[in-house]
Amino acid sequence: MTDAKEKTDPVVMRMQRLLSGPARPGQAFTMPGINYDGLYRMARRIRAALSGEGDAKAPVCMGTDDRTILAATMLATLADGPSLLIPDNFSENRITGLQRRTGFTRIITHPPAPLPTTVAVIDPKQLNDEAETLAPDEAPNPDRPWVALLTGESTGTPRLWSKTPRNLLGEVDYLIKRYEISSNDRILASVPALHIYGLLYSLLVPLAASARVVGQNPSLPEAIKGQMAATSPTIFVSMPVHYRALRENPPEKGALRLAFSSAGPLAEADGTAFSRATGVDLVEIYGSTETGGIAARRRSKGDVGFTPYHCIQWRVAGERLDVRSAFLSRELPVRSSGWFTLPDRVKTHGSDSFMVVGGADTIVEADGSREKRHQSKMSAAATGKISHNQQVTFEPAGLNVAIEEEQTLHELGAAHNIDIRADCGGMGICGKCRVLVHPKGNFSSPTQAELDVLTPDQMADGSRLACQARAIGRGTVTIPDTLAENSEARGKTGIAGSYPVDAMTRRLAVEGRSPGLKKDHIPESLLDWLAAQVDEVAASAADISSLRQLAKYRDSLKAFTLVVHEKTGLRRILAGRQTAGLGFAVDLGTTSVAGYLCNLETGALLAADACVNPQRRFGEDVISRISHINEKNAHLDQLQHLAAEAINFLMARCLEKVGATVGDIDEVGVCGNTTMQQVFAGLHPYGLGVFPYLPLTLSPPPFSAGDLGLVTDPAVAVFLMPVVSGFVGGDTMAAILADRPHERDEITLIVDIGTNGEVVLGNREGLWVTSCATGPALEGAQISCGMRAVSGAIHRAWPDKSSRRMDYEVLGNEGQNRPLGICGSGIIDAIAALRHIGAILPNGRLDETIDGVVSDKKGVGRHYTIAGSDQSATGSDISVTLKDVRQIQLAKGALITGIEFLMRKAGIEKVDRTILTGAFGARFNWKNALAIGMLPPVVSEGEVIPRENLAGVGIVMALLDKKLRSEAHTLSRRIRYLELASESDFAMAFAQATSFPEMAK
Ligand code: FES
Repeated sequence: MTDAKEKTDPVVMRMQRLLSGPARPGQAFTMPGINYDGLYRMARRIRAALSGEGDAKAPVCMGTDDRTILAATMLATLADGPSLLIPDNFSENRITGLQRRTGFTRIITHPPAPLPTTVAVIDPKQLNDEAETLAPDEAPNPDRPWVALLTGESTGTPRLWSKTPRNLLGEVDYLIKRYEISSNDRILASVPALHIYGLLYSLLVPLAASARVVGQNPSLPEAIKGQMAATSPTIFVSMPVHYRALRENPPEKGALRLAFSSAGPLAEADGTAFSRATGVDLVEIYGSTETGGIAARRRSKGDVGFTPYHCIQWRVAGERLDVRSAFLSRELPVRSSGWFTLPDRVKTHGSDSFMVVGGADTIVEADGSREKRHQSKMSAAATGKISHNQQVTFEPAGLNVAIEEEQTLHELGAAHNIDIRADCGGMGICGKCRVLVHPKGNFSSPTQAELDVLTPDQMADGSRLACQARAIGRGTVTIPDTLAENSEARGKTGIAGSYPVDAMTRRLAVEGRSPGLKKDHIPESLLDWLAAQVDEVAASAADISSLRQLAKYRDSLKAFTLVVHEKTGLRRILAGRQTAGLGFAVDLGTTSVAGYLCNLETGALLAADACVNPQRRFGEDVISRISHINEKNAHLDQLQHLAAEAINFLMARCLEKVGATVGDIDEVGVCGNTTMQQVFAGLHPYGLGVFPYLPLTLSPPPFSAGDLGLVTDPAVAVFLMPVVSGFVGGDTMAAILADRPHERDEITLIVDIGTNGEVVLGNREGLWVTSCATGPALEGAQISCGMRAVSGAIHRAWPDKSSRRMDYEVLGNEGQNRPLGICGSGIIDAIAALRHIGAILPNGRLDETIDGVVSDKKGVGRHYTIAGSDQSATGSDISVTLKDVRQIQLAKGALITGIEFLMRKAGIEKVDRTILTGAFGARFNWKNALAIGMLPPVVSEGEVIPRENLAGVGIVMALLDKKLRSEAHTLSRRIRYLELASESDFAMAFAQATSFPEMAK
């Protein structure tokens, strides 16, 4: 599997493309100057010289900033070295200092300059011999040091930062895609190519995009304007001091379409003046030599904060920016968790950007003070000198731990084997890492994420998010029992085994090279040739993803593997024979997301995992999320990214469990309610929030992973399950595929209880479906002491008839019966038990005469105490309140009315089998649900079968078996949907159904 990863690693692929020769040999690289063919010839000469003189692997110094020579040298050293030392200037002091420090013995330069006598000069313009190729026999290593950049002239403390091909070319790929840079672009840079910013934007980006770059670096306004007039650039790469100089004397727009600024803070007025004069976007880049690019801002588009690159994970924790990035230099003190803390002080701005409040935005560059401060923090961090004698104590473990200023409490705990839950992976979304700190003043100030997630009362009590807060002085961090990491099953993952396979996506091995033209001179396309090699007509289909993949074909491939999708054709080309492909099935629920990793050859379910849906911060139900998206178009992207993030997170966890990589994934299948699916597809759900709640389509088209932000190869096919209506989605369809009621004679009732209740009814003669607005109360949400079904939850309850009290059982926690809260199955039992002992009356009121019912001042029963503060594990009462009872009345009333109306509409009076499903739906005592009027009595006359997450089973089956997808397509048009709100007597029936039935004695 590791081998597969190397071969599909996008950076390796980029390296191979660069090494294989120019894509456009005749196109100019530098203007005026050399074309790509000439550039590559120079690179081959340098490669020959480097391998022929001295120690071929010893570092070599760059002695010129000539873009052509620099680019050719970078190409010559890309595959396997030697590593390239790039000083920030060529003063004698700089070069001799660098030589003393690194001992380099060769320098590449033209014309030769005064140099230490021990150094051999390689002048590329004097070389004759050419290496045969730049490409080595072995796959190039993307993680070896490629260049080392010397920085810090202004501080007097120069430092070398090494950069790997992954650091540099990973960012180059991102920039090319993000800013759509192509061979049509002409780049003018007023910054030298010796510094990271110039190296990336004015050398590596044009090289990788086959674009043209102006050879000179004009720096005076008139010179810049002159070059602009002479070369008509489409992209201008500059820095704040030059934008300042151009402010009074701006250039013409010409062909310019984009401008970049970096290397420090750009005064807003300077940027605005430039954008106004030229009418182009000015993109400010945030980052440094050692970090690479991190974020960008377009003030002309109204941006206030910097938006991090999509490929970088980030969080603001205690006014510090943490990033996980592939662009970080390895000298940086990146923590084992992958996070690195930048020295600048920042604060979040909105949900997707940050502002620099201390450091770059406030310190003038001229005297290098910012750089000094930055450097000193960096070097302190790099040498591990930021530490304190002070400690925090983690409770209840009672462990004293020395403070590390840059670590969040979660990381500090993890470093000492103290586990704190982090369901959202430290993104500040889930709130599950909540801890109690004391004293509050000895911890960093709350981040925006904490203000979003925690209530003012929680903040006042000292609650903090462990993934955000940092200790800055001595204190105590208490992990509440409810929130300690729990290894119990996470709801939807309890399915296993193998399923039938007839995969839509298959891997086909090919041997041999493309034959070129046929003998009879009839031209043949590469796609046709490939299809003929595997005798697979589907391989000759081509959408744009297929063609992009095909463009990766190289004659050097002697054996390779095609990944072919039966409908859309060739999806991927893999080097070598790699026959085992994996698929990832996803049940994208409103509350939680489950992922299942499957073998597309054997049908085996290899791993499963689940997490909270990070979109929950924008509302528990689909209507709140639709409203959030309706507020602002950008919110659609925001929620789409969150869904993709959750899927990526689960995919990574599942792949890790089996030692596979994302390169092994060939197809992804997703089911969810209609809103979840539509939002994940990036399609606005407006129509789902207004009558008549129409979905855009019943059968969504195939998507590509790259369009949806999945981390697999972008060409991987993604299918979404067909839906039945705006409120009966792909998850219900998946449940139908798994249980197959449409093939049975018996009448089946499927009740899927999640945040909504979906009901399916019928048999081979026809199926009816409806959706009931049960809300999340039946899952234990919106219940005052509600919690998930994990250790400490009351999950069963029953009446003790002798004491007329309610007894209960707590999940897990063997030997101790102190509850933390009550979960969904517990609340149904509790309501039934309280009905039995008479504490809840048929209309939902609490009878204050019953022992345990607590009344208010007016004598009205307000809550029933299940466990007093002395019996609970929280130190507070665990109660069922009047409001909780109301929530359950509304939920159960909606469900039973939906079922009864559906039966009436379908003309069905008897049910042979009832399937209870959903993460919660399979786990409750259905007899108690019957007793409180949540299910109709007719259910008890047939068989009742709990099935954990039928939708998960269905999406796994459809991922593995293409026939099920066309079956779903057909069913989506055949199943009849009942819109309850359109039934004239629904409101009356629903109101009546909120009452509780009489209890059997
Ligand atoms: S891990 Fe801290 S909020 Fe999710």
